[in-house]
Amino acid sequence: METTLNNGVKMPAIAYGVFKMPNDASTTQRVKEALELGYRHIDTAAVYGNEEAVGAALQGCGIPREELFITTKCWNDDMRSDNVENAFHESLAKLKLDYLDLYLIHWPVKGKFTEAYQVFEKLYHSKKIRAIGVSNFHMGHFQELDKVKTIVPAVNQIELHPYLSQKDLVEYCGKHDIIVEAWSPLGAAKNDLLKDPILQSIGEKHGKTPAQIVLRWNIECGVVPLPKSSTPSRIKENFE
Ligand code: A2P
Repeated sequence: METTLNNGVKMPAIAYGVFKMPNDASTTQRVKEALELGYRHIDTAAVYGNEEAVGAALQGCGIPREELFITTKCWNDDMRSDNVENAFHESLAKLKLDYLDLYLIHWPVKGKFTEAYQVFEKLYHSKKIRAIGVSNFHMGHFQELDKVKTIVPAVNQIELHPYLSQKDLVEYCGKHDIIVEAWSPLGAAKNDLLKDPILQSIGEKHGKTPAQIVLRWNIECGVVPLPKSSTPSRIKENFE
């Protein structure tokens, strides 16, 4: 299942997220297993510190590069120190890739994110990135970006789950042809989201787990979820 970005690039409709996973062989192994299960979209970030472990899984995975969709994000410190272009090349080297599918501004760093986005546009034009986007942006950030941008961001990655549906922001992104990605789609696990009786009853009706109901809800709303799990059975459950 795929979604089409505003520049025509196809993006798999669910990603395997690796937030908080270590930069070691265990993460490489989990990413390899996720690829074997059928995930083709991996979401990492420079600040997660695990791009090398992800890169090790991508290398030699046997899947043609054009079937993979790899996202990483530019960290705040690199925006603050005008190091965006170097940071991009460092991420690429760690991931052992020669181009990236999606590069995101991790947070709208005040006074810096518009400049960073202009560097993204340059990298996009040099064909080093297939799509550029943002993360954790609200309407005001988009309005500020409007003053300098020549390319509409393909994606806005935000915290989104049934207890935080971000209705207005999702509507705004829809109107502007920006695909919304959900970070922590099950993150309200800490709020017992997955124990919610409504999700449980929908799950029982369809023979699915509450997590699967939440992820399916994202997909039916046109939102791309990025569930993180270090547990092989859950990685499979989430893909299913
Ligand atoms: P774990 O990594 O130990 O499997 P989110 O991506 O929404 O932030 O959610 C991540 C958290 O949700 C992690 O703690 C992860 O635990 C847990 N999790 C991921 N998938 C499932 C699932 N299918 N059922 C229950 N918990 C899950």
